[in-house]
Amino acid sequence: MKKSKRLRNLWYNLSPQQRFTVRRLYYLPSDLYEQFINKRHRYVPPKGYIYTGSPSNSKEYILQGLHQLELLKEDIDIKPDDSVLDIGSGIGRTAIALTTYLNEKGFYEGFDVVEKGVQWCNKKIKKDHSNFNFKYIPLFNDLYNENELEASEFKFPYPDNHFDKIFSFSVFTHMKIDEIQHYFSEIKRVLKPDGKAFSTFFVYDDNTEKQIANNEKFSFPYLYDGYRLMSNVVQSGNIAIHKEKLNEMLQNSNLELVSLTEGFWKNKENSLNEKEYQDIVVFK
Ligand SMILES: C[S@@+](CC[C@H](N)C(=O)[O-])C[C@H]1O[C@@H](n2cnc3c(N)ncnc32)[C@H](O)[C@@H]1O
Repeated sequence: MKKSKRLRNLWYNLSPQQRFTVRRLYYLPSDLYEQFINKRHRYVPPKGYIYTGSPSNSKEYILQGLHQLELLKEDIDIKPDDSVLDIGSGIGRTAIALTTYLNEKGFYEGFDVVEKGVQWCNKKIKKDHSNFNFKYIPLFNDLYNENELEASEFKFPYPDNHFDKIFSFSVFTHMKIDEIQHYFSEIKRVLKPDGKAFSTFFVYDDNTEKQIANNEKFSFPYLYDGYRLMSNVVQSGNIAIHKEKLNEMLQNSNLELVSLTEGFWKNKENSLNEKEYQDIVVFK
């Protein structure tokens, strides 16, 4: 077995709390150094807190958020005075970029199932930007926490037809299929009739299924009805959805696919020509 796969299996065998602790300890020396030289942007958490990815430094975290903002401008025409919802707002990567873009007529709502991330965002970002708000929702996700509430029954805490734009980066790659279906219906409810939604996914079709099932480094060996999982131990670890199933799920929630832009996750060599790692799905 490849080393990267062995490491991933080891990682999945830890509890969510153990994963947080290992990350914190691993990055502690470089976090202390960054604190000592005082180089970190005031909204960027220490690397050991960034449970949502591994940017090489504070500057890269900011750049990743700015890249996400560019995608939102290109793909769903996000405007400075839009009302926006960030599903799975994490530890503020996209929100930080949006503080430089949304004006006082626009507003931002984010929610997430990891309390530490939400606390950080409210303490740092909301403090300076009263039109930004982050909510902690204690829903279960076996990659991130040991909460008890079911995401498949969660009603988004916003009124109907409330948002111009709704987005989620790398969230529907870490949820269960029934949860994603339910979130589609909630998106339909809280999105304005002329609004647009943007989400990233791992999408495959009949031509690429074999490749992603057996890929050396990043594979989805466990087949279910129209989707594949990376791990049966941590079911929300990574999910890839067949294109037809995704379309069917959108239709079930009265949503319409606007565009699907392939990312380079299936084929890293092509990365220079592609704009994003995961596949981008725009719907309304
Ligand atoms: C890979 S991270 C991406 C975070 C953020 N969107 C970003 O781009 O930095 C996935 C996020 O989804 C959140 N998440 C997982 N299940 C969720 C759920 N049911 N509802 C909302 N957020 C969820 C996780 O806590 C985590 O913050």
